Amino acid sequence: MSRRSIAPSAVLFLLFFLLCFQVLSQTDGSAALMEEKEKQALYSMIQGFVGTWWNGSQLYPDPCGWTPIQGVSCDLFANGMWYVTVVSIGPIFDNSLECAKDAEFSTHLFELGHLRSLSIFNCFSASDDNPVTIPAQNWSKLSSTLENLEFRLNRGLSGEIPAGLGGLVNLQTLVLTDNSLGEGIPWELGMLVHLKWLTLSGNQLSGQVPASIGANLAELLIMDLSSNHLIGTLPSSLGGLSSLLKLDLSNNLLNGSLPRELGNLKNLTLLDLRNNQLSGEFVRSLRGMASLQVMALSNNAFGGKIEDFDWKSFGNLTHLDLSNMSLVGEIPDSITQLKNLRFLALDNNQLSGFVPARLAAMPCLSTLYINGNNLSGSLDSLRLSTRGQGRDLPLGITQISATNLVVKVQ
Ligand SMILES: *[C@@H]1O[C@H](CO)[C@@H](O)[C@H](O)[C@H]1NC(C)=O
Ligand SMILES: *[C@@H]1O[C@H](CO)[C@@H](O)[C@H](O)[C@H]1NC(C)=O
Ligand SMILES: *[C@@H]1O[C@H](CO)[C@@H](O)[C@H](O)[C@H]1NC(C)=O
Ligand SMILES: *[C@@H]1O[C@H](CO)[C@@H](O)[C@H](O)[C@H]1NC(C)=O
Ligand SMILES: *[C@@H]1O[C@H](CO)[C@@H](O)[C@H](O)[C@H]1NC(C)=O
Ligand SMILES: *[C@@H]1O[C@H](CO)[C@@H](O)[C@H](O)[C@H]1NC(C)=O
Ligand SMILES: *[C@@H]1O[C@H](CO)[C@@H](O)[C@H](O)[C@H]1NC(C)=O
Repeated sequence: MSRRSIAPSAVLFLLFFLLCFQVLSQTDGSAALMEEKEKQALYSMIQGFVGTWWNGSQLYPDPCGWTPIQGVSCDLFANGMWYVTVVSIGPIFDNSLECAKDAEFSTHLFELGHLRSLSIFNCFSASDDNPVTIPAQNWSKLSSTLENLEFRLNRGLSGEIPAGLGGLVNLQTLVLTDNSLGEGIPWELGMLVHLKWLTLSGNQLSGQVPASIGANLAELLIMDLSSNHLIGTLPSSLGGLSSLLKLDLSNNLLNGSLPRELGNLKNLTLLDLRNNQLSGEFVRSLRGMASLQVMALSNNAFGGKIEDFDWKSFGNLTHLDLSNMSLVGEIPDSITQLKNLRFLALDNNQLSGFVPARLAAMPCLSTLYINGNNLSGSLDSLRLSTRGQGRDLPLGITQISATNLVVKVQ
């Protein structure tokens, strides 16, 4: 085994390696053939976000092959070419692309004609000198492919939601959350008939909830418009969102009464309307929602009698928040039949009468608020001290707030 016998094979190997390297680097990579136009569009698009110092062709000569860019994915199409299908910008992984202070949307974005998913996370930071808006034009160029569009936590992203997003007819996810978007919600979003997930929470959106959303988005599963400045009454068309599982409109300025059609949302598991100015009859509007697990209506001016609810039909409730709703009447025994209930807030209403003894026997209840009413009863009527040695709360109840109850400690 001398050197002589090794050398020829080593030379061969080196030759082979060089050949491969040359093929890969010279012909745009035999493993990941790309149109030059596509590649340049990708580089320029990323430069828009991360800055011109970033030289894509130098750092990532084969972006769909052996030099992948973190956050960028490609797919092979029938013509034998690779195209960019997923772009995620922002500090998601340690080595993710980070945005520059003067980050902006490059028009080259719209040249990536096979893009399925675009997400921009924590990229545009809040600063007065570089307000960024969502491009108003050219979204139609992505309409045949784009399914997922997410802009999250970009406090420097202001201006309005462009009506042109309504042309993205294949969109399934539209998440524009915790940015600084303002103005109204464009009715054109009601054209996104395949949308499953619509989240516009945590912006400064104003105006009314457009009726078009309820009228057309029959596949919608999640709708979250919470923490904006939305006003006015809810459109009755919302009752058309028959697939809906979660509806969160909390922390807005919505007023008027709930449309009766809301009761058509039979698959709804979460309804959060907290912190609005809703009023009027609501029992009938919620009647059909037998799947509800979370019903949170607190801090509204609904009024009405708590007994009017057919609580027995809400057997899957785990979380019931009815505090500060101007409710009158007595706590009905039927509430104590809600076997899965873990959280119950009835505080700051005008409830009267006795606290039902069976509250203490609810198997899952761990949090109970009943203060701020005109209730009578005593903690021992809740059998609060009958179960444990020296415990003054029943098994499971970890928090009780009943300042105007007559407390009797045994
Ligand atoms: C990137 O680097 C190459 C040479 O390595 C140069 O030719 C090209 O102009 C650079 N591109 C940009 C956008 O700076
Ligand atoms: C839309 O695309 C055209 C070219 O196709 C370009 O001139 C224009 O600047 C683009 N507008 C925006 C807002 O990106
Ligand atoms: C409601 O849920 C049931 C069971 O998951 C499902 O079969 C039904 O299709 C859903 N209804 C709608 C309108 O999506
Ligand atoms: C709801 O608020 C608007 C102002 O934002 C007001 O004009 C309207 O009368 C209110 N409607 C109800 C039913 O309170
Ligand atoms: C309540 O939950 C159970 C178990 O998850 C489910 O089988 C049942 O369909 C639910 N009831 C309603 C009315 O949604
Ligand atoms: C009670 O709800 C009203 C809206 O109906 C709100 O203005 C008020 O701040 C709430 N009170 C508390 C203590 O949260
Ligand atoms: C509280 O209820 C009692 C009857 O249980 C009633 O006599 C009293 O007037 C009520 N107080 C208020 C402030 O409503």
